[in-house]
Amino acid sequence: MKASLNRLAREQARELLVKLDAAVGGSRGKASRDAMVKFLNSSVPSYSWVGIYLVEGKDLILDAWAGPAATEHTRIPIGKGVCGFAAKAGKTEIVSDVSKDPRYLQCFLSTRSEIVVPIFSQGSVVGEIDIDGDQLDAFSSLDREFLEAVARKAASIWS
Ligand code: SME
Repeated sequence: MKASLNRLAREQARELLVKLDAAVGGSRGKASRDAMVKFLNSSVPSYSWVGIYLVEGKDLILDAWAGPAATEHTRIPIGKGVCGFAAKAGKTEIVSDVSKDPRYLQCFLSTRSEIVVPIFSQGSVVGEIDIDGDQLDAFSSLDREFLEAVARKAASIWS
């Protein structure tokens, strides 16, 4: 379990959902997404870079992000990269080793693993949460559950 030391724990995930509500406060739309990425990046050590992309036509557009550096991938065609794949499939993608995934579009040299969680509104993908981890295999099924709950929260205050 050595590699999992920094991974999210179940009790922590429950507490984080409560604290996320407090961090978002009464904000909605872009302001709520800014608060969410900032909160996730600063509260979970394994979440090295956190972004939210919005679906705009055939592309994903970077809307909000928090982390040590900006990414060059501010527009990703749906279907391209791990992000575009998750948006097209409408399913959470976990990549435990980005160096072994041919879909992967590199943003940061330090990234070793990634999770992408679609955000749905009325059955359609309207955006997604993209998180890069600096450790291999940084994301578990608990991160999936937790982030899918965060995605539902984001959808509920989308605009
Ligand atoms: N790695 C992503 C691109 C976005 S950056 O991680 C911020 C991908 O493969 O789609």
